[in-house]
Amino acid sequence: MKKGLILSFLLVFAMMLSACGGGNSTSSSESEGAKEQGKEKLEIFSWWTGAGEEDGLKALIKLFEEKYPDIPVENAAVAGGAGTNAKAVLASRMQGNDPPATFQVHGGAELNDSWVAAGKMESLNELYQEQGWMDKFPEELIRMVSKDGHIYSVPVNIHRGNVLWYNKKVFEENGLQPPKTFDEFFKVADQLKAKGITPLALGDKEPWTATHIFETVLLGVLGPEGYQKLWAKEISFDDPKVKEAAEIFKKMLSYINEDHSSRNWQDASQLVGNGEAAMNIMGDWAKGYFVNDLKLKVNEDFGYAPTPNTEGNFVVITDTFGLPKGVKNPDDVKKFLSVLGSVEGQDTFNPLKGSIPARIDADVSKYDQYGKDTIEDFQSSKLVPSLAHGSAAPEGFVTKVNQAVNIFVTQKDVNQFIDSLKNAAAELK
Ligand code: GAL
Repeated sequence: MKKGLILSFLLVFAMMLSACGGGNSTSSSESEGAKEQGKEKLEIFSWWTGAGEEDGLKALIKLFEEKYPDIPVENAAVAGGAGTNAKAVLASRMQGNDPPATFQVHGGAELNDSWVAAGKMESLNELYQEQGWMDKFPEELIRMVSKDGHIYSVPVNIHRGNVLWYNKKVFEENGLQPPKTFDEFFKVADQLKAKGITPLALGDKEPWTATHIFETVLLGVLGPEGYQKLWAKEISFDDPKVKEAAEIFKKMLSYINEDHSSRNWQDASQLVGNGEAAMNIMGDWAKGYFVNDLKLKVNEDFGYAPTPNTEGNFVVITDTFGLPKGVKNPDDVKKFLSVLGSVEGQDTFNPLKGSIPARIDADVSKYDQYGKDTIEDFQSSKLVPSLAHGSAAPEGFVTKVNQAVNIFVTQKDVNQFIDSLKNAAAELK
């Protein structure tokens, strides 16, 4: 019933989007035309468009086209960070039995509770065997893309969510060190504020960015076990620890830029890049943006550290691609997946995307110092799934949390926020 409601909402939203030309996916009449001209196009659906997002995808497509020049590719990306618009468009297409050939989906709940549970995905066990992948991806990752003994997608990367980025010059000029604890964070923030520098950049035009910060605070306060217990309904949202996290989050929000609601994540990262703000909390796609788009240098112009109190923990975000049931070109899709899952594919995509390879045997020398450090951290850290990016809990819950966080950012009413989170918990399994 609830699922039905969410899906109809997404459907209406998707129709509105296409009516006002949202996103930049190819119109259906164009793709119909392409189909008539001959071979079925390999439609790759994602939300990787524009600054910081599309370089890796374009390079991967280029590599695929070099290997399979006869397979026409259509890059059907729909703009909007974290799939803000793409997920709604995808939902309507899946509902209408018109799936893209392959689509971006996060491992964990987003894949398993939606598309796999609805019987919309093909099992990829054979492809994994054929490609010899079973021991090439970390077990944790294979678990995130599996249900009931079947593997349903191929991870192209691992992004880290709990990263604090900071402007090196601003920190150096003010004699500051990246904060390791919340107390240190607030001390640093006060010093910056006194100098007229925005301590923390936020761009929550798309509300997931604020949820992204909040989940790192939850992790910092509850620790990895407590954080996981929240999604398993073993810790309630009115637990004193959650309240403490909400209070800390509230305090952090008093250090953000005033125009946060008119910026997206790139615009917020730009504030840090150009020194108007000192720090932001964002996944490491921000590194792709700093390096590829702002032309900044790792450890010279910007630095990175785990978000306060989360050293030794790693919020995992894995972008994966699978094979929907009913596509006309499953063999071509498998060819694409085999390139995406190869060492070459991963080492082409990830140095540009800001993520680390999902494979354990990738060529570390292809990665910058941030990438090298993150590859090591992934191996030595406690791994937890991201809520904001759909891995920790079902989409219905994430949507409600985003709404609650969005209201909290302006109203800052902790009790009301806790109530909304408690209500949202009805969506947890
Ligand atoms: C995440 C996704 C990343 C990046 C980010 C911003 O959900 O996993 O690859 O694209 O959104 O759009």
